[in-house]
This record gives sequence, C-alpha cells and structure tokens, in this order.
Amino acid sequence: MPTTSPATSLASSLSPTPADKFSFGLWTVGWAARDQFGNASRPDLDPLESVRKLKELGAWGFTFHDNDLIPFDASEAQREKLIGQLKQTVDETGMVCEMVTTDTFAEPIFKDGAFTSNDRRVRRYGLRKVLRNVDLAAELGATTFVMWGGREGTEYDSSKDLFAALDRYAEGIDTVAGYIKSQGYDMRIGIEPKPNEPRGNIFLPTIGHALAFIDRLDNGDVVGVNPETGHEQMATLNYTHGLAEALWCEKLFHIDLNGQNGPMYDQDLVFGHGNLISAFFTVDLLENGFPSKPGAYQGARHFDFKPSRTEHVEGAWDSAAANMQMYLLLKQRAVAFRQDPEVQEAMEQSGVLELGEPTLAQGEDLQAFLADRSVYEDLDLTGPSERNYGFVRLHQLAVEHLMGARG
Ligand code: GCO
Ligand code: MN
Ligand code: MN
Repeated sequence: MPTTSPATSLASSLSPTPADKFSFGLWTVGWAARDQFGNASRPDLDPLESVRKLKELGAWGFTFHDNDLIPFDASEAQREKLIGQLKQTVDETGMVCEMVTTDTFAEPIFKDGAFTSNDRRVRRYGLRKVLRNVDLAAELGATTFVMWGGREGTEYDSSKDLFAALDRYAEGIDTVAGYIKSQGYDMRIGIEPKPNEPRGNIFLPTIGHALAFIDRLDNGDVVGVNPETGHEQMATLNYTHGLAEALWCEKLFHIDLNGQNGPMYDQDLVFGHGNLISAFFTVDLLENGFPSKPGAYQGARHFDFKPSRTEHVEGAWDSAAANMQMYLLLKQRAVAFRQDPEVQEAMEQSGVLELGEPTLAQGEDLQAFLADRSVYEDLDLTGPSERNYGFVRLHQLAVEHLMGARG
C-alpha cells in the first residue's frame, strides 16, 4: 500500500490581522451574481452582516457605494436609519470605513454618464448626488472618495463633443474637490480608470490618462488615482508599472486589487487568480517599495473582486478569504525574494541598484559633461554592448521564490 501524507497548507498558517490593512467593497462579497446573461445565483446579503463577517475573516476595513447601503429611492427617514445602523456596526466591530464611492452608473438617468452626460439636468443631478455622498463619507470618517466613471464615455464618436466632455468632467471633479477643501474634510479623491465596460469607450481609460487629467485641475492637489489591477490589464498595460508612475507622481491614493487574465471582459477575479507573476511584483512593490525608494505605499490593501457566479454564499466568503491569503502568501514570498543574498547579488549584477544613481555626477554642469571625452568620443562601446545584464537569471530567482522553491 502506498503511503500518503496529508498536504500541509502554508496559507492556512497565515491569518490576516487589522495591521495588514485589508479592506473590501460591500458590493464585492454582496454581489448576487446578476450578469448580462442571467439572474442572480446568490441571495442579496445584508450589508451590515457583511461588515461583521469581514471583521471575522480578519479584514481591517470596508468601503461602499451610497446605494450598496441606501436604496436609490429610499426616503430621508429610511436613509437616516440605515446610516445610524451602519455607524452602530462600525462601533461594535471596530471596522474602518476607509473609502466611500458613489453609484452614478446603475440608474437609467445615468445611461449617458453623470458628469459628462449631454443632458445638463443629469450633470447637475449627478453632481448633487456625489456632493451629498461626500458629506456622508466625511460623517463616517472615510479619507478616500473614489470616483469611477463607468458610464462616462461613448459607444459612438458622433455622440459626444469630446473636448467639452473633458471640460465637464474636469468641472465636476474640480467642484467636488473644491467642496472637500472648503468643508475642511480630511479626504482625497481617487479617480478609478477603466478602458471600457459598461461604456464602449470610457473617458480616462488608464492611469496615465487620469494622471495627465489631474494635472490640469484647479483643485488637483486633493485628487489622485485608484487603479484596479484588471482594468489596466484589460488595456494590455502592466499594472505594477502604472502603480509605479502613480507613486512617482505622489498620486497613488488607493488601490483596487483583483485578478484578470489579459484583455477580455472585466473578470474581477480573486487577487492572484489571474496573472500571478504580475501579482507577485505588485505585492513586491506595495510591500517593499522600490530599491531606490523603499516602503512607498502606506494605504489600504483594498480588494474589488466579484465572487464567481458558480459560488454560493459559502463560496463567496471563501473567495473573500482567498484574496487576503493570496496577498499574505505573495507578501511572504516577496520579502524572502528581496532578502535572499543570491537575489541581492543578481540585482547588483543586473544594474538594478545602479539605476538609482543620477546620470550626471553631483555638481557636474552641462559644459563639463559635454567636454568629457570618456563619455562619448573615447568610450569603448564593447563593454556596455557585451554586458550580460542577467535579467533572466534574476527573474528565474523571482519565479522560484514565487513558487516556494527557494526559502
Ligand atoms: C469595475 C469597477 C467598479 C468600481 C466601483 C467603485 O469593476 O468596473 O471596479 O467595481 O471600482 O464601482 O465605484
Ligand atoms: Mn473591475
Ligand atoms: Mn474597482
């Protein structure tokens, strides 16, 4: 008889704690899995129950859209009651309401967007809905206010004055940012880029577009980005590179972590269940920072995923837990990767650390640089041309760490 030993799970030995700063949107675990082709496959969850359950699983915080808690057509009294109940749940659990966002996409009134709708009545209505929600966010102590303009865009280029649309988008965001400042709220806006879905083409489709847009705002000092893993990957972009540029611009205010397998519909899978190697480098960046700038991101580790439609309630909660487990495993692997002396030596050899050194020497002026013949005229090109950077060896070490093949 062959003997089998039980599989041991490293993952089960890693328990999330509030210090990990994991948070979840209430719309993630609460998604009843209604999609374009089918009805709900799970019951609707009570958002307050979800906050409690997330606490139990080891999360630190939660986030929500106004309409995840308060039905769109709720009366004023109903709204107040629900907010009161949420506050009570926050007090009981110690869960942090770290971010609030506004639903400006579900209702038919927003079918052509909110801030960029051709209909001025809709723009004015949308702006009021958002401003009202900023007050709620402040009341709950949220420090980030996410703006995902999923309906801001077009299917047909004939349908929109694209220049005016950007003007109106900027006007809307500047108005909200100005309001936050005038009220003295300790809050910053995170614009969430996405290339398409639900609109054919969404405005501010990538991190880069959003950063350039923010630069043109009057109140851009309190506006940054909330990049989502899958959204950048839908645009065939490298999420970790996007995070790096946002950090470099000091605009990485928040993140939406999830999984995606390349350019297709928005999958919103569990973090790491898509491009795993990319997820490893995302965690490496978030946890270890850059070699030239360690410890760059301090914010929430926020998951924006959808439990697959095949999963019932139990599977939805398993999926929530899986996001945190994946992150902790990747964190452990990323720390081991950086600490490995062979990796450090390989990084050195690859010039990874050399890139942190300024190209011009300290105090070297342009004239001296131009006069230095060793830089250009007399440089023996053989050395740099024949340099073996060893990037493949370094990457192999990374993947071995990722696979747990190195300690
Ligand atoms: C998506 C988006 C949304 C937004 C959320 C915040 O998957 O298309 O991520 O989930 O993040 O609605 O407004
Ligand atoms: Mn998404
Ligand atoms: Mn998101």
